[in-house]
Amino acid sequence: MKFETVRGLHIPKVGFGTWSIGGQSSPDPKLDSVSRTALRSALELGYTHFDTAEYYADGHAEELLGQEIREMGIRREDLFLTTKVSPEHLHPDDVLRACDRSLRRLGVDFVDLYLIHWPNPRIKLGESFRALNRLVREGKVRHLGVSNFKLKMLKESVALSETPLLTNQIPYSLPEKTYVENGVIAYCQQNDILVTAYSPVKFRNLNVNATLKSIAAAHGATSYQVALAWLIAQPRVITIPMSFDPAHQKENLEAMNLELSASELGQLSNLYSR
Ligand SMILES: NC(=O)c1ccc[n+]([C@@H]2O[C@H](COP(=O)([O-])OP(=O)(O)OC[C@H]3O[C@@H](n4cnc5c(N)ncnc54)[C@H](OP(=O)(O)O)[C@@H]3O)[C@@H](O)[C@H]2O)c1
Repeated sequence: MKFETVRGLHIPKVGFGTWSIGGQSSPDPKLDSVSRTALRSALELGYTHFDTAEYYADGHAEELLGQEIREMGIRREDLFLTTKVSPEHLHPDDVLRACDRSLRRLGVDFVDLYLIHWPNPRIKLGESFRALNRLVREGKVRHLGVSNFKLKMLKESVALSETPLLTNQIPYSLPEKTYVENGVIAYCQQNDILVTAYSPVKFRNLNVNATLKSIAAAHGATSYQVALAWLIAQPRVITIPMSFDPAHQKENLEAMNLELSASELGQLSNLYSR
């Protein structure tokens, strides 16, 4: 396991995403069995960072994750759990209630990381952080972060958080460089803030790109592993791919062992330049 060390914390370079576990924006009971199997295999393979949200399957992803952790008897201290408050719950009282609901569904006393899922321009950020800071003081949340925040609001969040803001979770992959272009990633790297790259392998031509294929072949790896290895080779960057398939889950975790050369990393960085 490879870790990113930030502010004395060791966080796995590759964690596990839970979007579509248990449904999409609402619970889908037909997916329970396949979701439980996916969570079980991820835990058995050794994933320890799980990323979820109250939004995912309207809380059902949190529920299934909590059930699987309990049934497998995994010790709480061996896990790093991230969940998120939805933008419509950013009034202070709503933040407190949303967090309590998430803790109950997950069946834990605290989460390691609690994120604002998306900014909500209709609610003052300072109001939301009043409640978020309280959750940290009360021990219900270990660390705070944000998601999908551009530079201005990210800097405001850094100033409003009573404890160092741990992450900005953003879309980041070989072709998705919006947050490189808008300066967020450089700001995070300069200010000891983790970049959590989401949807790291969700792009159309991943499997057919000739450069990706040839770099992968040179290492006896897959294109998916190359796409992940490029991300996690970067300082302060971690990622959270999701897969229902145990073989894919294993492949993604093992991308941590893939060492790309400086020239390969450079080639990959330029692969989708406009
Ligand atoms: N903060 C936010 O707003 C936000 C937004 C989006 C996502 N996220 C988080 O980020 C996580 C990851 O993003 P994502 O789920 O959108 O996209 P992703 O992890 O990049 O891609 C998931 C898709 O890729 C496939 N896949 C994964 N690994 C593979 C492999 N090794 N080989 C072949 N196919 C593979 C999966 O199919 P199989 O199941 O068939 O393997 C699945 O269809 C989410 O689950 C969620 O936790 C956060």
